[in-house]
Amino acid sequence: MASPVALITGSARGIGREVARTLAARGWTVVASARTLEAARAVAEEEGGEGKSFVPLELDVERQGSVQDAAHHVQALGMKLDVLINNAAHFETGWTQPLFDKTMNVNFYGPVHTMRAFSPLLVDGGRIVNVASWFGQLHQISQPYRDAVTSCNSIEELISNIKFNAMDGDMRATAHSCYKLSKACLIRATGFAAQDPDLVQRNIKVFAVCPGWVRTQMGGPSATRSVPEGAASVLALVDPKEEHVSGGFYRDGKPMSID
Ligand SMILES: NC(=O)c1ccc[n+]([C@@H]2O[C@H](COP(=O)([O-])OP(=O)(O)OC[C@H]3O[C@@H](n4cnc5c(N)ncnc54)[C@H](OP(=O)(O)O)[C@@H]3O)[C@@H](O)[C@H]2O)c1
Repeated sequence: MASPVALITGSARGIGREVARTLAARGWTVVASARTLEAARAVAEEEGGEGKSFVPLELDVERQGSVQDAAHHVQALGMKLDVLINNAAHFETGWTQPLFDKTMNVNFYGPVHTMRAFSPLLVDGGRIVNVASWFGQLHQISQPYRDAVTSCNSIEELISNIKFNAMDGDMRATAHSCYKLSKACLIRATGFAAQDPDLVQRNIKVFAVCPGWVRTQMGGPSATRSVPEGAASVLALVDPKEEHVSGGFYRDGKPMSID
């Protein structure tokens, strides 16, 4: 039987790298993507021991053209994906228009673009795993943004209605507020994607996961979890169980509140 195939964004380091390593060790074919082909090739070279199968792929989630090119490349290789893992993210503190644009591009619009570009390449019964965060729970953002996110009824509405408001004092005073908002949008978009008629008809499930606070470049050395522990939380939804409901938000395979 052919090995299952996973595509991971941001696989050159951190949790994405660990998920790539683990799946390859389990016999999966891993489409290891990174912002540059050199970085993706380095993953394949450094992790690709005997019997392990890596396909390096250039994919900068911030650039829609890069996402499209990457999807065309995978299609041209004749590959089908069992799982798409939207792992890449940008994490920086501040509340400015440029940081809002950058963070929403990488953490929210990027995963939306990859879901759309790669879903035709997913097998029936495939999965999409969006790596979110407890920072994306609604209590992490200001009341006006909570209202804005919860009143949106589609991914398109999230994209067009969630705008930067320089005057939002709570967001100005909150650390990592752009990141928190982007992950709140990603969690809500996961719920909408799970209802997409094409995905439902093809039995493709869509999950949001939180890896916990992990000792990566993003999480820093004081984080409570090792990289394998964080990756395990993502991997729990790569092979979901009966109780994992499409559109849900999970940590360590257990439901998390979106509030
Ligand atoms: N660490 C934590 O405590 C924690 C907690 C909650 C959620 N998370 C989530 O877990 C996921 C992985 O985080 P991590 O801790 O492993 O972070 P990390 O070590 O900082 O790695 C982030 C990855 O994202 C990639 N990336 C950034 N911008 C990109 C872009 N435009 N296109 C493609 N790739 C891009 C980076 O690539 P380069 O190498 O090219 O920079 C890197 O591979 C993220 O979604 C994060 O939000 C992490």
